[in-house]
Amino acid sequence: MNAATPTFQPLPRAASPLPLFVQQYQGSSELICAELIKGLQAPEALLSPKFLYDRLGSKLFEAITELPEYYLTRTENWIFRTYLQDIAKHIGSGCTLIDLGAGNCEKAAHLFECLRPKQYVAIDISVEYLRTTLARLHHQWPTIPMLGFGADFSSKLELASTVFSSKRVFFYPGSSIGNFSVEQAGLMLQQLAAQAGKDGWLLIGMDLLKSRAALQAAYDDPLQVTAAFNRNILLNVNRLLGADFVLSHFKHLAVFNRQFSRVEMYLQALQETRVRWGALGGGARCFRQGECIHTENSYKYSFKGAEELLNNNGFCVSRYWFDPHKLFCVFLAKAREN
Ligand code: AVI
Repeated sequence: MNAATPTFQPLPRAASPLPLFVQQYQGSSELICAELIKGLQAPEALLSPKFLYDRLGSKLFEAITELPEYYLTRTENWIFRTYLQDIAKHIGSGCTLIDLGAGNCEKAAHLFECLRPKQYVAIDISVEYLRTTLARLHHQWPTIPMLGFGADFSSKLELASTVFSSKRVFFYPGSSIGNFSVEQAGLMLQQLAAQAGKDGWLLIGMDLLKSRAALQAAYDDPLQVTAAFNRNILLNVNRLLGADFVLSHFKHLAVFNRQFSRVEMYLQALQETRVRWGALGGGARCFRQGECIHTENSYKYSFKGAEELLNNNGFCVSRYWFDPHKLFCVFLAKAREN
């Protein structure tokens, strides 16, 4: 370099303050026990899929995402990798990126480079889970202000006033919306649209309807990781209710229900068995051989059905991206002005 040529170093951008954390959701253990007991005493026993995700359950779910048969995560990642520039072009830079069910924040972090958000808000039911992740992310991206928000957004979402109000982009990957009924999903989308504001967006990944064989394999893998994930809900219930479920008395079942366009997961009693619990005064339930506990639904949408769900509930689909086999779709939808 010519000694006369002045060299300019870009000024370092000021680091933003450390992430702030707000725990809004307070699940009382009494309410949780009452919900579990109500489900166990129902004529057709059921447990909410949220109880699949204790510490071990979250690890087992991560293992599921690595399975060759579980195409969802891999396919969605391919779509994001392949179309990231295009997605970023449509959203533009400087958004308020709001990550719903952020978990380890990995998927959203892949968008940072292209989206350059002016604030990143990670929402998960437990803010504790976000603490370490956000501390690491903040170290990597010191100029992006970050906020960790402990909330159960599936029932109610009220964003703190510290969340920037301009150009909010709700990021909801993984087809997690499929674990809600169509009615619940619609209500949740309406809430998001109301919170998005007039320049708000939703970037959402949705699994598409496909052959029974492919769906069956994805939810009943030969390694039986999904079976372990499903059965682990009983371990969690044993802990939460002081119950005595014997795991080996139940087998994992995954059934594609074409009428409702969903994969249903059950635990089926292999023999007559009885469970007792100590919580809230104690109780018991007998299961006949073959009787089932319903643990999860995973709805699969046609492209048209997915588009309608979004368009009928506060959003307007603007762009979408598929993988080559049209297994999965990522939608970018604009919030409608209320
Ligand atoms: C988190 N959710 C989108 C997963 C799904 O595919 O419905 C949960 C899951 N259940 C069994 N395998 C994975």
